[in-house]
Amino acid sequence: MARAPFITFEGVEGAGKTTLAERFADWLAVQGISVVCTREPGGSTLGKHLRPMILHQPLDAYAELFLLLADRRQHTLEVILPVLEQGIWVVCDRYADSTLVYQGYGRGLNLELLRQLNAIATNGLQPDLTVLIDLPIEVALARANDPNRFEAEAIEFHQRIRAGYLQEAAWATERYIILNGLEPSESLLAQLQTVVKERFSLR
Ligand code: TYD
Repeated sequence: MARAPFITFEGVEGAGKTTLAERFADWLAVQGISVVCTREPGGSTLGKHLRPMILHQPLDAYAELFLLLADRRQHTLEVILPVLEQGIWVVCDRYADSTLVYQGYGRGLNLELLRQLNAIATNGLQPDLTVLIDLPIEVALARANDPNRFEAEAIEFHQRIRAGYLQEAAWATERYIILNGLEPSESLLAQLQTVVKERFSLR
């Protein structure tokens, strides 16, 4: 059986990606599609332990990176690939693009190095579709409600994240869909459904 589609959701904190990812997965299930919803950091057994450290422990940028990559490698090998190989779709709230954007554009680590390390952490797996929810930082931060080290960063950090996502999306237009996070969630879901029906030939 061909591997099932792998769909990731990306965006700044407060963009609404978690809600949209959940609603999207519910819709897939209603279409009769088997789907597993997961997230990073924290999708692997190891990651459940790492997540509170990544979010709350003061960390050097490389130490932060290595924890995220350790979670990604375990998550990919333990959860994502085996599920996809059974023909079950995977919807993932953040994946390798988060590292490029947060640790690269945000923390200033070398983008080429991050691409190489991500290639190892993902075992070469690339999302078939990445849903980027884009919106002004001021609006997003006013909505964010999960205080952590990233949310507490200066506005300039978040602006680099937003710009980084838009840059990455511009380099990989065939993989990304950009949704306007100022629109209501029902409208985002409807746009996503249209794209997914066409891209994956759903009836
Ligand atoms: P998440 O739980 O998705 O937070 P939110 O719902 O607030 O967007 O992710 C937690 C934080 O981890 C988020 O601020 C971004 C950060 N992060 C990275 O910096 N690099 C990564 O590779 C990943 C997966 C997350």
